[in-house]
Amino acid sequence: MANQKAKMILEKDFKVSEIDNRIYGSFIEHLGRAVYGGIYEPGHSQADENGFRQDVIEMVKELQVPLVRYPGGNFVSGYNWEDGVGPVESRPRRLELAWRTTETNEMGTNEFMKWAQLVNADVNMAVNLGTRGIDAARNLVEYCNHPGGSYYSDLRISHGVKDPYNIKTWCLGNEMDGPWQIGHKTAAEYGRLAQEAAKVMKWVDPSIELVACGSSNRNMPTFADWEATVLDHTYDHVEFISLHQYYGNRDNEISNYLALSLEMDDFIKSVISIADYIKAKKRGKKNINLSFDEWNVWYHSNEQDKRIEPWSIAPPQLEDIYNFEDALLVGCMLITLLKHADRVKIACLAQLVNVIAPIMTEDNGPAWKQTIFYPYMHTSVFGRGISLNPIISSPKYDSKDFTDVPYLESTAVYNEEEETLTIFAVNRHLQEGLDLEVDIRNFEGYKVVEHIVLENDDIKQTNSAKGTPVAPHSNGNAKTENGGVTAVLPKLSWNVIRLEKRK
Ligand code: AHR
Repeated sequence: MANQKAKMILEKDFKVSEIDNRIYGSFIEHLGRAVYGGIYEPGHSQADENGFRQDVIEMVKELQVPLVRYPGGNFVSGYNWEDGVGPVESRPRRLELAWRTTETNEMGTNEFMKWAQLVNADVNMAVNLGTRGIDAARNLVEYCNHPGGSYYSDLRISHGVKDPYNIKTWCLGNEMDGPWQIGHKTAAEYGRLAQEAAKVMKWVDPSIELVACGSSNRNMPTFADWEATVLDHTYDHVEFISLHQYYGNRDNEISNYLALSLEMDDFIKSVISIADYIKAKKRGKKNINLSFDEWNVWYHSNEQDKRIEPWSIAPPQLEDIYNFEDALLVGCMLITLLKHADRVKIACLAQLVNVIAPIMTEDNGPAWKQTIFYPYMHTSVFGRGISLNPIISSPKYDSKDFTDVPYLESTAVYNEEEETLTIFAVNRHLQEGLDLEVDIRNFEGYKVVEHIVLENDDIKQTNSAKGTPVAPHSNGNAKTENGGVTAVLPKLSWNVIRLEKRK
């Protein structure tokens, strides 16, 4: 069968924006085995003196995760942060209502901050605007960021942490539009509360950046009105509005499934429009940027989660085992985020360990990499610099819910300082390779140094603790010729074509 053909033009001056590294963020929630049994398992052969699993730390470092959202998620809407600081033996056990488990509070703010430092990540801290409000939020900012000489900063010092953490990015609650949320609110109720909490949190520390809750997903009945109302209240006090979206191949139709990143693209464009409408309404000067602080595939574990025994401690919840096609969609979603790097300044793959995660662990056993680990790692490691705006021509197809889906999903990142150019590409075609021709114009002297490919004959292939059959190889055939790049992108594949300037 003859391959399909696609073309791409890359030009140094066609820029979307400098990429904010926080776009490669992730998320750890007190949920399932993310914290207990995931990052923290005292007694495990790999545990350090803090009880942190070193094998997990090593994998998180491989991903070069720059930012981790914490402690939730739905969990944060019932969380008393004071339960998680001070002597561990005096911390209360609580009924955790979001996920119907028991929270021991063995890990809390200081333990998590220590772990984040070990993996070289900043923390995106969420405050509880479900059951609590302005007071608990401003006290937590004081505990974390004030140098000393006040009740909460001195409390932190008495807990053994002399220097403030200076946490920069904060979330004003979580999914407050969702009826499942503890303390669910209307847009007006939430907007007012978020406005006042934001104002006061910034009085404690004016250097922080704040994320107001947008909709829990694009299909929420209140979507769009929610964002407009919330931003109407909070425009002067926040820097970001959040987006959350999870996808699943519920109908088992891969062509349609892989096109879902087009919906994500549309969602992003809609939220930008709403943020700009409010800016116009306010005669504002600043743009509200987007924090896509929960995104991923999530559906494999839905049925088994219904069987979890209530009030157990760290049960295996949301343990999606990802297959090869999920890795392709995750690749398309990463490319979509990069295409909007001018407005999406934060994004968090939800989540990081065990819970809908790229990294899995077995209790007392090994850690292992899911299929989605690879596109996330490749973009995080090679996708730092300037997001370029490529001109792409690709053959297209129609699927159940989409028309004109390009077989080629692609973008490129230029790192001026390191003189590297990296093309990320997915071939959505089920049967045929894609002959790609890239015109690299004013990237004189740039040569292909590596063509990484993630491919597999079985789209349902998964990895496990026993082995990782879905893993990338570097045998792609991309080459530089006649001042351009040519490559064959195998059918259904994730590709990373790396170029470096050769003197
Ligand atoms: O990431 C899992 C859950 O998904 C989060 O707790 C919640 O915010 C979302 O609904």
